[in-house]
Amino acid sequence: MTNTAEATEHLAPARLKDIPGESGLPFFGNTLKMLKDPETYGNAMIEKYGKVHRSNVFFRDVVNLIGPEANEFVLMDKGKNFSSEKGWAAYLERLFPRGLMLLDFDEHRAHRHVMGAAFKTGPMKGYLERLNAAIPEGIDAWGEKGSFEFYPAIKELSLNLASTVFLGIDPKAEGAQINKALTDMVSAAVGLVRVPIPGSLMAKGVKGRKFMVNFLTKLIPERRNSDSSDLFTRLCQAEDEEGNTFTDQEIVDHMIFLWMAAHDTITSSLSTLVYELGRNRDWQEKLRTEIKELGLNHEEMPYELLNKMPLTEYAIKEALRMNPPVPATPRMTVREVEFGGHRIPKGTMVSISTVATHRSEETWPDPKTFDPMRFSPEGGVRERHRFAWIPFSGGAHMCIGLHFAYMQIKVIMAQLLPKYDIVLPEGYTTEFQIIPLFKPKDGLPITLKAID
Ligand code: HEM
Repeated sequence: MTNTAEATEHLAPARLKDIPGESGLPFFGNTLKMLKDPETYGNAMIEKYGKVHRSNVFFRDVVNLIGPEANEFVLMDKGKNFSSEKGWAAYLERLFPRGLMLLDFDEHRAHRHVMGAAFKTGPMKGYLERLNAAIPEGIDAWGEKGSFEFYPAIKELSLNLASTVFLGIDPKAEGAQINKALTDMVSAAVGLVRVPIPGSLMAKGVKGRKFMVNFLTKLIPERRNSDSSDLFTRLCQAEDEEGNTFTDQEIVDHMIFLWMAAHDTITSSLSTLVYELGRNRDWQEKLRTEIKELGLNHEEMPYELLNKMPLTEYAIKEALRMNPPVPATPRMTVREVEFGGHRIPKGTMVSISTVATHRSEETWPDPKTFDPMRFSPEGGVRERHRFAWIPFSGGAHMCIGLHFAYMQIKVIMAQLLPKYDIVLPEGYTTEFQIIPLFKPKDGLPITLKAID
């Protein structure tokens, strides 16, 4: 099997219609079927047409490439065949232009290099201090409520954390306006209407972006000389080894994108984790014991102990396997490619499916069972294909915030579990919406019972 662009150069150009698949209904294609039940639809397509198949969703043809080998082929992208910018543009270009994921190849590498400075150990310790300071208040407020819906609660806490940790502002002062602007942008990015018709989500999103651009731009001169430990300040001062830095416009574009990339993903992961810990009480107890054994002072997490929580880390990874917040990753071919015996034309949208890979029985026996030990050495983590688990993607565009994500989730767990028992309603199960991002359909009702 050849997976190279070069091998096809002497042939007539590839044709999309030669790839097995279907275009569905006129105009809508397979969009409605797919949105109704993405998993059943996806499995049926794989069953009928195989692991490389053509479909038509969101008004365009797309070739789905399924499985760990396909993930590796697309994400490692040895031949520079796939554009992330053109893949994501349809969803993100208007509201999150020039974010890191919307840059390609050499330009992307150069920007990622500069941004890397904001994710080194020194800056990360500063973010951790801010998380440690802000999280207890949020969790105490949950404790006082007792019974509440976890999804909106974690979303609110994450928004407030984003104000302090990302932007370095007081959530009680400017926070409300910023939260509205940013949430309007995210809602617009995932809405069906793609033009800013007055009154539409997109119009609100565009207004939100304008507000954020003005707000951030005004703060940049002060932040370039500040010693504040927030991410925005770090980005204003980020510099790579060759002395390259970001312009004001680049800082604004990257900051807005970073906020978006971090927000709903962490919220989604924590929702799955809390749900599974509610259902798997033995695991909840294991994590509580592991955290108590760290001997934290007022539950405050020192940076050095973040790596001393293997069971918590396995549980986070298993939650990300079961419900990967970003269910699929799009790219566009910039030249003809061949994969699995199929030739895919230049300019084709392709998509790899994280959720199909993570729920495949071939790689993950009993995939619906929460079993964090799959990520332990004895659970076979080293023997598995390295692209069988890709919640943070892989290759050049692999999530730059993954350590930040683990850090925030661990700090929340470390402050929540020693104080409270997570209890789900009797006999309760929920369903998770898959597209555009994983989230519990019913808000996830829970009760926190204080532990004496
Ligand atoms: C559990 C939480 C998170 C998940 C599941 C997640 C997932 C992802 C995925 C799948 C991608 C790559 C998409 C692609 O290859 O096209 C990505 C990229 C990215 N993520 Fe995350 N993310 C999370 C948290 C964060 C956080 C906390 C930050 C920032 C602090 C962040 C910042 C970014 C950025 C900047 C990119 C673009 C990287 C690039 O293109 O080079 N993410 N993330």
